[in-house]
Amino acid sequence: MARKIVITSGKGGVGKTTVCANLGVYLSRLGFRVAMLDVDIGLNNLDVILGMERQIVFDITDVVMGKCRVRQALVQDVNYPSLYLLPSSHTYSSSKITGEHIKNITDIIDHSFDYILLDCPAGVEAGFHRAVFPANEALIVVTPHLSSIRDADKVVGLLNEYKIESKGLVINRMRGDLLLSGEMMNIESIVKSMGIPLLGVVPEDDSVGKMSCDGRIMTDCESARAFTLLAENIHNGSKKIFDCTYKYRGLMGYLKRNIKKLV
Ligand SMILES: Nc1ncnc2c1ncn2[C@@H]1O[C@H](COP(=O)(O)OP(=O)(O)OP(=O)(O)O)[C@@H](O)[C@H]1O
Ligand SMILES: [Mg+2]
Repeated sequence: MARKIVITSGKGGVGKTTVCANLGVYLSRLGFRVAMLDVDIGLNNLDVILGMERQIVFDITDVVMGKCRVRQALVQDVNYPSLYLLPSSHTYSSSKITGEHIKNITDIIDHSFDYILLDCPAGVEAGFHRAVFPANEALIVVTPHLSSIRDADKVVGLLNEYKIESKGLVINRMRGDLLLSGEMMNIESIVKSMGIPLLGVVPEDDSVGKMSCDGRIMTDCESARAFTLLAENIHNGSKKIFDCTYKYRGLMGYLKRNIKKLV
């Protein structure tokens, strides 16, 4: 049976799709069979980030409407053969797709995958329900900002109404230089206010933005190390957290920090 993990946040634009895509890649690099479901229906993004847009024949709506089987709609990643995407549709009115529809899909592929990742839309309305309903675990993505943490806190409360057995926190877009200078909320206080275990910290990294432009996951950058640790923590419970401050420590780090402030 697959572990079904929804990636959610409440607030929009904090990095759910980025975390989902990278987690998919790094879990598949660890040798697992991974299916990613783009449940942000009408606002598909996962296919773009993964550079799979041109390979799409059928999408999630076609599956729900009975136009094809789930297997026919799953797109295999050319670089990572154990990674598949069930793409979202661009046009269909999402209101016709329910949480039960998505659960039927996860039930069908349950035995063919080790992980099913569900990319949740922003907000806490019908789209949230659709993505959370089939999941048994949740990753809550926040950025180190109060507005993001408040929204995520509401989401954690709402998740209690579902059959979510475990919740984990991912802090995205952390700036090591600002952490050291005390200008950004620190990790301990974010974890304390969220009250759920920390599974990963991902640095602010220009390579991530580049990835969303050219549809290619970068594997030789800072965030790659952070996503590798996140995948390992999720898989084997190791508690290794990426240290965003390492390159800003010591004399060279001090200089880097101050140069960054000037530019
Ligand atoms: N660690 C990071 N470093 C730099 N840029 C990032 C990072 N994480 C995400 N981004 C950028 O932030 C933007 C929003 O990310 P993403 O689409 O993953 O957010 P989202 O939570 O899925 O948004 P939505 O709520 O609209 O679905 C993208 O342009 C992405 O490249
Ligand atoms: Mg998204």
